[in-house]
Amino acid sequence: MKFAFAEQLLQERNDAIVVGVFKGNSLTSTAQALDTATGGQLKQVLALGDFKAKPGETTVIFNPDNLNATTRLVLVGLGDAEKLDEQEYLKALRGCGAVIKNLKAERIACFLHEATVDNRNQYWKVRQAVETIAHVNYKFDAFKSKTQDTDNDDETEKTILFACEEFSKHQTESAVTHGSAIADAVKLTRDLANTPPNVCNPTYMVEAAKAAAKEQSALTVHVISEKEMANLNMGAYLAVSQGSDEAAKFIVVEYHGGDKHQKPIALVGKGVTFDTGGISLKPSASIIGMKYDMCGAASVLASIKMAAALKLPINIVTFMACVENMPDGKATRPDDVVTTMSGKTVEIANTDAEGRLVLCDALTYAQRHEPEVIIDVATLTGACLVALGDQASAVLSNTQTLADEILEAGQNSLDRAWQLPLWKEYQAQIDSPVADMCNLGGPGAGTITAACFLARFTEDAVWAHLDVAGTAFKTGKDASASGRPVPLLSEFLLRRADVIPA
Ligand code: BES
Ligand code: MN
Ligand code: ZN
Repeated sequence: MKFAFAEQLLQERNDAIVVGVFKGNSLTSTAQALDTATGGQLKQVLALGDFKAKPGETTVIFNPDNLNATTRLVLVGLGDAEKLDEQEYLKALRGCGAVIKNLKAERIACFLHEATVDNRNQYWKVRQAVETIAHVNYKFDAFKSKTQDTDNDDETEKTILFACEEFSKHQTESAVTHGSAIADAVKLTRDLANTPPNVCNPTYMVEAAKAAAKEQSALTVHVISEKEMANLNMGAYLAVSQGSDEAAKFIVVEYHGGDKHQKPIALVGKGVTFDTGGISLKPSASIIGMKYDMCGAASVLASIKMAAALKLPINIVTFMACVENMPDGKATRPDDVVTTMSGKTVEIANTDAEGRLVLCDALTYAQRHEPEVIIDVATLTGACLVALGDQASAVLSNTQTLADEILEAGQNSLDRAWQLPLWKEYQAQIDSPVADMCNLGGPGAGTITAACFLARFTEDAVWAHLDVAGTAFKTGKDASASGRPVPLLSEFLLRRADVIPA
């Protein structure tokens, strides 16, 4: 699927035209123009009353009159004209994406962004359209045999075109360019995370990073082996790996698009390619979906690739902490005490709280790059899913301005985050009788105590933590990675690079 923009889109051949309709049969401007051109066909369809124009509701008029080669008119409901907010617009885009999925149309002209959305400009509306249509049209069939049902195997290469006027050309062009790069990054994240854990192990993540660098030559990849990790005294990270036959890989990817002297933005991702819990083995039902425990690492890789694709004038360094958490005779025991790269010691009370163990050493290492800010991304706690469900990622930070910046990036990209407190009073919950701290914080405030643990390794940095346990994926019959928080991170990076048109 490709995205592009064009002026005077209606004067060219389109296989399908997508227009918005409000409740009460009020038409957006292009819908009105098409109604006139077809001798009132849209109004006739609406008069039947079947189509209620609820946000996201869709219907198709096939072979409309007098439109030459245009064989499909897609009507998309936008609800009440006065009430069209971001979320309703998003519903309309999702509906549009779902119809497009089933059309054998190559050239699709989209006019949904004509509608006025509260406080949002052409750039925002078109970029959101690109990202959402791409998201809905995602499929992951790399592991399906060819004998499967092929009903949905329409291989038509589609191009979605967005109409623009002379004055909105720059906004539309940026929106299509940025939106396409973000959509590619979301797809990369989803593909990596959806790949089963017998294939997607730490070594596979190295290959993925190298493949990204091959496509974007501005990226460089450096892999730190277990032996080097031992030399660096990354005792907590290695403790997680020692029960697995797969070698842990700590992957550093760099991008220098900014001034040589500008400090980099550091992104650190949890890359547990499978989390059994280790000796503190998870119950069977909770193990399902733990291939997604590397979503953090996948999303930071995809985000830096997005930045390179757009040649953003900033410096970024990402750290993918890849490892498999397995139980065996060599595995770490609950009660073990390990020494981290920072020199601080940790009592491992639960081997299933492994994310903070790999991240603490990754965060210590990341600070060697003297970053401007560090953001870590992790499917860290089940408690986060309990607290916020699948709507918001949790953000916790030692610097309120950074938390605010992340919250705003989330709101603007509709990949929302919500802040939880990092009050020092919670720190007592991870005190240990034998070591400097414990990797378990008791039953209450699980997301916060996990962040408190990480905070003890980032005291000298401007740091934020994103817990994406509830947002990065869903399990069940429609199990899939969501690609979150790539849209949030992308928005953050685009803003830092100051490339979003006003
Ligand atoms: N990867 C899990 C967290 C998780 C759970 C993510 C469910 C997504 C969905 C993490 O490593 C974990 O096991 N956390 C434990 C921590 C506990 C032992 C302190 C948890 O949340 O139960
Ligand atoms: Mn775990
Ligand atoms: Zn985990």
